[in-house]
Formats: sequence, C-alpha cells, structure tokens
Amino acid sequence: MNDASDYLIEIRDLDYTRGHLRIFKGLNITIARGKITAIMGPSGTGKTTLLRLITRQLVPDCGTILIDGIDIAKLSLKDLYILRRRFGMLFQNGALLTDINVFENVAFPLREHTDLPNRLIRHIVLTKLHAVGLRGAADMMPSQLSGGMARRVALARAMVMDPDILIYDEPFVGLDPISMGVIVRLVRKMNDALGISSILVSHDVQEIATVADCSYLISDGKVAASGSPDELRNTSSDLVRQFMHGMADGPVAFHYAAPNYAEQLLGRDAE
Ligand SMILES: Nc1ncnc2c1ncn2[C@@H]1O[C@H](COP(=O)(O)OP(=O)(O)OP(=O)(O)O)[C@@H](O)[C@H]1O
Ligand SMILES: [Mg+2]
Repeated sequence: MNDASDYLIEIRDLDYTRGHLRIFKGLNITIARGKITAIMGPSGTGKTTLLRLITRQLVPDCGTILIDGIDIAKLSLKDLYILRRRFGMLFQNGALLTDINVFENVAFPLREHTDLPNRLIRHIVLTKLHAVGLRGAADMMPSQLSGGMARRVALARAMVMDPDILIYDEPFVGLDPISMGVIVRLVRKMNDALGISSILVSHDVQEIATVADCSYLISDGKVAASGSPDELRNTSSDLVRQFMHGMADGPVAFHYAAPNYAEQLLGRDAE
C-alpha cells in the first residue's frame, strides 16, 4: 500500500476544455515520488496539455492538482515561481537556441534565474554535460549535433537548475534505436542517482516498457488503464491492446473527425 506521502502529484477529477473541445473529463492520476511515471495516449488526447496543467501554465476548469498535498491553483505568484523552479522540462520539439553553443545553451537557465559567478556556472554546466556524456561537445554549435546529441544537451539544460521533478514530453521522437536506448538509460539514471521524480510522455510503448515504473493510458479525457507496463500489455481491454500493440484498427479511429470524403473531394461540402 502507498502512503499518501509517496504521492508527489495527485490529479483529481480534472476537467479541462479548450474552445469546443473537452480534453479532460474527470481525469485521476497519481505520480509517485522518486519513480518514473509514463503518460501514454493517442495523439491529440491532451498529454502536452496535461503537462501544462501540472506546471500551471494552464488552469483546470474543475478538479484539483495537488503537489506535495498543496493545491497549485491556490498558490500565490511567488509560491508558483518557487514551484516552477522544482520542474525541469524537456519540451516536445524543444529546440536548442541555435545561435549559441552547447555550453551556453545549458548555462542559459542559470544566467536567466541566478546571479551565480561565472566560475560556478562553468562548474555546474560541465557537471551536467558530463552526466549526459557530452562534456566534450561544450564548444559545438547546435547545428553540428546529431538529433540524439541535441536531445541529451536539452536534457542537461533541463537538469541545470537541479529540479526534483523532470518532465519529458516525447523524448524519443525521431531517434534511432541506439540513441533511444541512450536516452532511456539517462532517464533512469537521472531518476535514480539524483532522487528525481520523472514524468514521461511518450508514444513509444516499447521504450516505456523498459523504463517506466507505472504507466497511465489516457483516452477520451480519462484514464483508460494504468499499471506496470506488463500489466498494461496483458490487459483484455481492446483499447489498451490496440495502443500497446500498435494496431491501426480498434476503438481509436485512425481518422480525425472529417466531412464525408467523397462529397468533400467532389466539392459538394462547399456548396
Ligand atoms: N492552443 C490551443 N488551442 C486550441 N486547441 C488546442 C491548443 N493546443 C492544443 N489544442 C488541442 O488540444 C488537444 C490536445 O492537444 P495536446 O497537444 O495536449 O495533445 P497530445 O496528446 O500532446 O498530442 P501529441 O501526442 O500529438 O503531442 C488537441 O486536440 C489539440 O488540437
Ligand atoms: Mg504532445
């Protein structure tokens, strides 16, 4: 049994609508302290939106998000600022700044948010680059890096403020299997060696299975299934099986809602 203090983040009965789209309809998720929690779901289900809600870049319509038992909707601006500094984020498509080198990319948050002397900044940046195996690339420009290297630099940057919660939005996209394996091991290493809690959003079911302690599959605004990767893989739910085994047919439609195809091609929908 988990003790309440094992939960770092608790999301309760979350409702969130954007325009006409009801993205979450009573979502319940708990993120365990010191573990890697994966959030999976078909494209457009609201995974990135959920990360924005957790960091209070967006505010829920209904429901609560508790971090360390505190309702983040009630935080003062000052406390919100303190909370945000606990998060390190590897954004989906999170690009490096192209006109400064690797070292300066990683140093950027320190220069923005602290008054640390250059000597200390240098020490911290080199330590983080070393942790991702790229201390030797400090002077390179982002355009000289491979996709996998760029992702590792972004990870070093996400860690540079010593966060206790690391959020990864699709960290494996576009990587070859070897680079993916490197990132997977880094996610695990950061989590365990630094005592960080990690939230990992990804479509890559196989990678998730090797690294996540607990996974949530979100569909239609709610949690469709949760558990260890093995539990999800062996489930009898059609939706979970479709997602875990990458099948095109199943409860999730391949096509986004659209007008009748033939009529649209014939231009009748425009009449
Ligand atoms: N700024 C916005 N304004 C209106 N709708 C938005 C906005 N951002 C996202 N959406 C919609 O919200 C829904 C959820 O988007 P979100 O980016 O959270 O999905 P996702 O699960 O992260 O998808 P993916 O796996 O493709 O990254 C989508 O249908 C999207 O079209
Ligand atoms: Mg997304």
